[in-house]
Amino acid sequence: MLVLGIDTSCDDTAAGVLRAPREILSNEVATQYDLHAAFGGVVPEIASRAHTERVTLVVERALKEAGVSLGEIDAIAVTNRPGLIGSLMVGVAAAKSLAIAADIPLVGVHHIEAHCVAALAEHDDLDYPFLALVASGGHTALYHCKDPGTIEVLGQTIDDAAGECFDKVAKMLGLPQPGGPAVSKLAEGGNPKAVRFPRARVKDDPLAFSFSGLKTSVLYYLKGPGGKREQPDREDLEISYADVAASFEQAVVDVLVDRSLKAAAQLGVTELVVGGGVAANRRLRSDLAEGAPQGLNIRFPSMALCADNGAMIALRGAEVLQRGLTDTLDLDVSATGEGPPLP
Ligand code: KG4
Ligand code: ZN
Repeated sequence: MLVLGIDTSCDDTAAGVLRAPREILSNEVATQYDLHAAFGGVVPEIASRAHTERVTLVVERALKEAGVSLGEIDAIAVTNRPGLIGSLMVGVAAAKSLAIAADIPLVGVHHIEAHCVAALAEHDDLDYPFLALVASGGHTALYHCKDPGTIEVLGQTIDDAAGECFDKVAKMLGLPQPGGPAVSKLAEGGNPKAVRFPRARVKDDPLAFSFSGLKTSVLYYLKGPGGKREQPDREDLEISYADVAASFEQAVVDVLVDRSLKAAAQLGVTELVVGGGVAANRRLRSDLAEGAPQGLNIRFPSMALCADNGAMIALRGAEVLQRGLTDTLDLDVSATGEGPPLP
């Protein structure tokens, strides 16, 4: 079965072709960083317009790269939740048109569930049940993936997502967006122990995350004692921006590692899968690998599969189809991912 996966949930227009269950034939992405750069964050209206311009071209590229025609595709999978409503609508409308044109089934996919299972495409020996840490610009949560039909949230952020926090700190440090790679690169030359930024715990919820206090701490640190510095001023700091970046990064990574290993011990699982844009972070990768107890395998997808992409949507769609479920042409979108139960 060949599945075409489409994702337009945020600011990347993505499409990929998968030979079910796990073989990726293509994975094409058109990013929009340049369009949103001047605004310091994703502008929903601009994102949906750009998706409208690009989605058909990206799908065409994905088919070409896979060496297949639309007529050879057996099903279309599309992210319909969660995400920016206008952006989701563009992908879903495109997917419906293609499903009608090719007369093939359509299936709506939960974006975060797709991040959870992306690693399956690159690890033949990985299988359910497993624990998944998904850390992206919009989400940070731990999931117990029991089987393809049962993916349960164990704990999630009560405020900012980890990636969002990287993006905001990048802005404070005058770095470009997306902030994660920029902060991480700067951090490479810094001392992670220079400043002890807080590692927040959430009361009565040991597997939940909170990053807004950390972000504020970095801001206050940059503003100086008593908030005297109007603008964060590089010259006034006792330590370098690289030290601030490294200390901040270490605080985020410590929290992600702590919760993940706690959850793994609690569930007694042998597999921990990491997904979402923040999974590209090198310190997270090395600290998790070092901190993992014997018997716990840590699975990182490649960079292309960590970030938003169409292949993971096709993979998750194939799992849903495998369970005999499809959607109809009145498939709706959901910003939060909640709503009536979907396949
Ligand atoms: O999963 P993703 O591509 O899109 C969302 O669904 O949000 O994640 C993007 C997020 C951004 O916040 C970006 O700054 C962060 O992932 N990110 C990183 C790194 N690469 C991307 N954060 C930390 N370190 C990185 N190397
Ligand atoms: Zn994502």
